[in-house]
Amino acid sequence: MVERGAKGKRPASSRPGMRFTVTIVAAKAGNARIVSTNARPISIVGRRRHGEMLTNIQYRILKRISPGAPVCCGGGAYEGKSKLAVLMGDDFFTKIAGKVVIDFGCGEGTDAIEMAGRGAKRVIGIDIREDVLQVARQKALRAGVQDTCLFESSTKEIAEIVVSVDAFEHFADPAGILRIMSTLLQPSGEVLACFGPTWHHPLGGHLFSVFPWAHLVFSEKALIRWRSTFKTDGATRFSEVAGGLNQMTIAKFEELVADSPLKFASLELVPIRKLRHFHNRLTREFTTAVVRCHLVKRT
Ligand SMILES: C[S@@+](CC[C@H](N)C(=O)[O-])C[C@H]1O[C@@H](n2cnc3c(N)ncnc32)[C@H](O)[C@@H]1O
Repeated sequence: MVERGAKGKRPASSRPGMRFTVTIVAAKAGNARIVSTNARPISIVGRRRHGEMLTNIQYRILKRISPGAPVCCGGGAYEGKSKLAVLMGDDFFTKIAGKVVIDFGCGEGTDAIEMAGRGAKRVIGIDIREDVLQVARQKALRAGVQDTCLFESSTKEIAEIVVSVDAFEHFADPAGILRIMSTLLQPSGEVLACFGPTWHHPLGGHLFSVFPWAHLVFSEKALIRWRSTFKTDGATRFSEVAGGLNQMTIAKFEELVADSPLKFASLELVPIRKLRHFHNRLTREFTTAVVRCHLVKRT
């Protein structure tokens, strides 16, 4: 037998002011048992409404600041220059000459094609996005390096050097990528990685940093809702945006490397130029422009 509340009494939950019901089964008199309830304490409902209101307000502010897609992450800093030479140093091309190189998170292939054109024996660009891989293949064809520069979503080729530029803050599973990098590397090989901005950098939210540190000021919900007005990939989390965004910090990266089959041969934190005088161990998460490192296999 199914009843609502005890006989002759209204269940406490249906009294005015309470917004939930409780279904009670009384199989035998005196043996009543609650079998289902849609009970949600009023404070949780209230908190959810409050949260929605806050998201709405933040969303409106974001729309006011940037009604459409913001202009960002254009890579203008490298215009007319080799991004690889700027980030990795002038001796980079000497280092890769005659070597098999994997470019992990290669995007549209500019760096991989440059490496193929400047002396690498063979370059394999890896990316999870088929659309950017296709663009990269076309670019390799136009540059005439299509035989030495391949673009794939994965590879089994063992390399002497794995390069990764501006990708570690995007990998959904960076720990997994470190393991893959290690398996793709010759025993004496090395990983040369550069990335940033990291999550606490003023522009660490990438597109979400509509002003410095905006990605830390506004909620993920509000930022994603604002983004969905000009992006149609259906992302509901930072991690789901095209290419990924994993909220990587310097401390997190150090932890990941410590738990990986690779170890630091060097780690350099390049400060934001204007904040260089404030750059130290305590402020590094907020004042580092680029994380540059050189990883080797643990012996
Ligand atoms: C900001 S782009 C950098 C592209 C290029 N390295 C450059 O510097 O111009 C990061 C790239 O990492 C790729 N990526 C994200 N997760 C990946 C994964 N698990 N495996 C390979 N590539 C990935 C993204 O698709 C994106 O193209």
